Amino acid sequence: MTTTVTEAGPADGTSAGAAPSPAARIAHVSKSFPGPAGDQLVLDDITLDVAPGEFVTLLGASGCGKSTLLNLVAGLDAPSAGTIETPGRPALMFQEHALFPWLTAGKNIELALKLRGVPKPERRPRAEELLERVRLAGAHGKRVHELSGGMRQRVALARALAQDSRLLLMDEPFAALDAITRDVLHDELTRVWHAANDDPDGRKLSVLFVTHNVREAVRLAERVVLLSSRPGRVARQWTVDIPQPRRIEDAAVAELSVEITEELRGEIRRHGQH
Ligand SMILES: Nc1ncnc2c1ncn2[C@@H]1O[C@H](COP(=O)(O)OP(=O)(O)OP(=O)(O)O)[C@@H](O)[C@H]1O
Ligand SMILES: [Mg+2]
Repeated sequence: MTTTVTEAGPADGTSAGAAPSPAARIAHVSKSFPGPAGDQLVLDDITLDVAPGEFVTLLGASGCGKSTLLNLVAGLDAPSAGTIETPGRPALMFQEHALFPWLTAGKNIELALKLRGVPKPERRPRAEELLERVRLAGAHGKRVHELSGGMRQRVALARALAQDSRLLLMDEPFAALDAITRDVLHDELTRVWHAANDDPDGRKLSVLFVTHNVREAVRLAERVVLLSSRPGRVARQWTVDIPQPRRIEDAAVAELSVEITEELRGEIRRHGQH
């Protein structure tokens, strides 16, 4: 019944010897919401670990409880049963960029740095560096309304990275973008994730990425987890060993996507959803 945030340290997977603790440990988690006809069970007995440095996509039909599960892992809501453990507080990124429009791109990032206690003189250079990491060097002084949708999501990614978290939770962050911009951001996210995990400090960045786009799930992930609907349960998982960098139009991506789409269709048929 609890969401536990343990302190980062050996528990973040950096210790030598002992098996690294997962970046997220979701154990027997269920979630109900009160409804007109009594409690509605949305998630039922979800058990899932995300390994340090692992990229997992959570896939399922609309309304199956993906965002609910992500919100639970983020600590924004509490499970009705079961436990969730994360070493440190996860960073979040949503479909809506949620940047403050009255602040510049750079100041949005600096605010995240301030909130985690980075001293003032270090904030500006750190923000510039993060903007460079998402290929937006020079955008520090730009207001949010001056940026395209893709650029806003890059700033949102930079802001999430500013939290220096070991776990990045992403809820359909590219769903509102056109296909070409989305492709570019897939490449960027893969690059940023690889770079974070190649860091000589040995700390790992795991990603738990929610989508209902099968190709996107296969393009990005090392593991795809399919949730059933009503209630959401782990229906099936696939390990994706197609080498990165992948393209969404790669034959191997397409082939696995067809297989997963079949399963997803089966789930939707079984539960009468569209
Ligand atoms: N705070 C809440 N109170 C009541 N019901 C809720 C609440 N949050 C979610 N639900 C219900 O839980 C179910 C799952 O919602 P959720 O948003 O997690 O689905 P999803 O898989 O993210 O869907 P989508 O792909 O459309 O984003 C839905 O039936 C929704 O109405
Ligand atoms: Mg959702």
